Amino acid sequence: MSKRNLIIVSNRLPLSVKRVDNAYTSSLSSGGLVTSLSGLTKSTQFRWFGWPGIQVQDEEERGKVLDSLAQHGAVAIFLDEELAHSHYNGFSNQILWPILHYQSGVVFTDKPWQAYQRVNELFAETIAGAAQDGDLIWVHDYHLMLLPQMLRARLKAQGKHCAVGFSLHTPFPAGDFWRSLPVRNELIEGMLSADLIGFHTDEYKQNFTQSCANILGARTEIPGKIQYKDRLICADKFIVGIDPAKFEDTLRNEQVQARIRELEEKYKGMQIIIGIDRLDYIKGLTQKLKGFGEFLDQHPEMKNKVVLFQVAVPSREDVKEYQELETELSTLVGKINGKHATPDGTPIIYMHRSVSFDELTALYSIADVCLLTSNRDGMNLVAFEYVACQARRHGVLALSEFAGASAFMKEGSITFNPANTTQVAEAIYRALTLDEEEKKMRYEKLSSFVNANTSAKWGENFINRLSRHI
Ligand code: ADP
Ligand code: F6P
Repeated sequence: MSKRNLIIVSNRLPLSVKRVDNAYTSSLSSGGLVTSLSGLTKSTQFRWFGWPGIQVQDEEERGKVLDSLAQHGAVAIFLDEELAHSHYNGFSNQILWPILHYQSGVVFTDKPWQAYQRVNELFAETIAGAAQDGDLIWVHDYHLMLLPQMLRARLKAQGKHCAVGFSLHTPFPAGDFWRSLPVRNELIEGMLSADLIGFHTDEYKQNFTQSCANILGARTEIPGKIQYKDRLICADKFIVGIDPAKFEDTLRNEQVQARIRELEEKYKGMQIIIGIDRLDYIKGLTQKLKGFGEFLDQHPEMKNKVVLFQVAVPSREDVKEYQELETELSTLVGKINGKHATPDGTPIIYMHRSVSFDELTALYSIADVCLLTSNRDGMNLVAFEYVACQARRHGVLALSEFAGASAFMKEGSITFNPANTTQVAEAIYRALTLDEEEKKMRYEKLSSFVNANTSAKWGENFINRLSRHI
């Protein structure tokens, strides 16, 4: 492991800061990026720079926020509320996110693009000022695609030589889709200022490499290398994972065990399907509910014998598409439950809120099936977490072929195309009726993959590779 100072940069800090009375409190944010980097904290020390998710104008108040975050190795980059809104909701989540996930009908406007550039500049100024010669700087995700370029220029002007890495936590779409974005050149040029660029799968890496060749005229004959202008950039797949031990430890906790017993007693004689997703259109929640409805239509004998626990964690609630989706889902849940509920039970238990980590672990542990229906998804760490909690039950993973995870977990899971609700219904039925021997065989494949590809290993691999560029 490299002994150099490491700086992690992401738009969102792992801690969300809130003002309560006169003080600031912070709680862990949820999402794949936080999960994967939290796993790295066990083996590696770093400072984590990002937006604290809160508007603070007063210098003294900013000092208080910085002090509270410093205890956790986090450093806040403050942004004006309107700028943060336009960068995060406007450009990152209303323009870039849908393009990265193959959604059509995106409307490009100049104001959010300007905000995106400005925020990347502010990040570059702060990080370049804080970095020391010889540091490793690892930038994360689509909110900061311009940062490697802006950072490199500033570091150079300050006479600091640092290695800059960039990891994308979303898919990178195929060429034609990316081409539809008016600022496609600027963004991939921004990323190409990194020394090492990481993707979740080979497919995303190849899509990016092809766009660099087609759009920028970069040379890409050497596998894993992109020659652009006078620089040679490395691009590779790094399998991101979770920290399975965290789930195993939590499962040993007496309170969690008691909760598991309580739920198992309550749902005795029934099979449980679990779905844990941010409330995002990429997660295919509409198809999941419709597929489950179709399964109930086709298998009346399963009525009152199967329940779907769906946690839909509120996400990006200021964005119109997310608000509309929430309304659509509540309506759909109401319709399916209205059609299939009996005095003995309701088929869908829909939780539109965050649940505690203990509860999350208990839910994973009691579920016979985990159903993930993403239309597109960078990786999907929920798939890994479910496996980590299934040593006892050998539950079945029913996984969309469009989640990045299916590139690695196809063999052990039941995969399907979520665009076809009949396929979703069939996958549910198959998952619920697999025999014990087959479940065990599939689980063992998945479990050895999850345990061999931890988040710590992912981070260490990336950092080791990055440190060669110094
Ligand atoms: P994404 O990055 O799109 O949110 P992932 O499936 O990769 O999707 O990661 C989601 C992460 O968020 C998982 O690690 C999951 O445990 C975490 N998470 C989901 N729901 C909750 C919750 N209610 N509370 C805390 N963390 C959650
Ligand atoms: O997986 C993509 C991603 O943007 C991650 O970076 C993040 O952890 C997750 O989705 C949640 O997104 P947000 O920060 O918008 O809540």
